[in-house]
Amino acid sequence: MKTLISSDVRLLADLIRKGGVVVFPTETVFGIGASSFNEEACKRIYKIKGRPSDNPLIAHFSSIEGIKSVCEVREVAERLLCEFAPGPITLVLPKKNPNIFPKEMPTLAVRIPKNPVIREWIEECGSPISAPSANLSGRPSLTRMTDALRYFDGIVDGILVAEEPNLGIESTVVGLYEDPPVLLRPGSIESDQLKLFLPNLILPNVITKSGEFIPPSPGMKYKHYSPQAHVKLLHSETFVSEFLQCGKDSKTAWIGFSFGPTVDDDKPTHKIDPIRMKLVSSNWEYSSALYAFFESCDQLGMETIYCEEPREKSGKEGLLNRLQKASEAN
Ligand code: TXA
Ligand code: MG
Repeated sequence: MKTLISSDVRLLADLIRKGGVVVFPTETVFGIGASSFNEEACKRIYKIKGRPSDNPLIAHFSSIEGIKSVCEVREVAERLLCEFAPGPITLVLPKKNPNIFPKEMPTLAVRIPKNPVIREWIEECGSPISAPSANLSGRPSLTRMTDALRYFDGIVDGILVAEEPNLGIESTVVGLYEDPPVLLRPGSIESDQLKLFLPNLILPNVITKSGEFIPPSPGMKYKHYSPQAHVKLLHSETFVSEFLQCGKDSKTAWIGFSFGPTVDDDKPTHKIDPIRMKLVSSNWEYSSALYAFFESCDQLGMETIYCEEPREKSGKEGLLNRLQKASEAN
């Protein structure tokens, strides 16, 4: 298939109106989208990704008015949207229009991306855009245009060239379809910020008394965010001591805040190939770099990626969740 790679939002909107599938960047990660009113095109996304068919898609809008036209937006939802949207928040709301994908669900996950170019493109498309993250199911989401091209050129109808993601992890997902509201997926907007609006926000209780696992969000039951390499999440002290011990092994990669003074006395840390070592200074920088680092490590055939635990500071919640999921999957 010939893929149109362009920054022209009109051309890319044309493809959507004709029933096409387009890869596009958001402030969180890349998405792979189709018109929310074209069931066939939405279903193609599942095939491309290898995504389980019961895992619903987020509908991306250019405005709050657009959301109101298809969902019930109660007062608290409106306040959350006014505060955090456009931005990395997804609300799961009761659906008003049953024709929007996925038709069989009574709720719809909605989000307004931050980049005005992406909102302009959605506006041009004339319908919301249903899109999961653009990655193969189970693998980390993509945050670099070069990776999006490598995976999707020749596979989708178009790739919209716009500013690359800078947050690096997927949006915070909040379920507002029942009381109390539920934090379905942590992200860059953290629970202490949400609790100012939702004092009774709860973490989902996924295990029943009989030990049965009932995920409130279908996505929770699937493997996520894991590169091909093994991921080891370590406390800071262990991270540094492991690095001093195994850092020289060329099949290991390292991402964290501190690498100790040297690998051994006569080899300074900075002599390690920078491609398998990423030094970060905050949880935000860590999140922003994480998936790109995972992707590079897989390209290089790394066997183990050692990750230092996040700092006890803002930006920890979403980052820790992704690191835990990536390391659990091994
Ligand atoms: O940042 C993001 O959210 C990115 C960009 C592209 O917008 N999108 C993204 O989509 O991460 P995806 O499909 O990879 O993750 C969406 C999550 C899944 O865990 C899914 O189960 C959940 O949202 N979800 C979607 N619709 C839902 C619904 N109606 N009820 C409960 N959970 C829902
Ligand atoms: Mg995803």
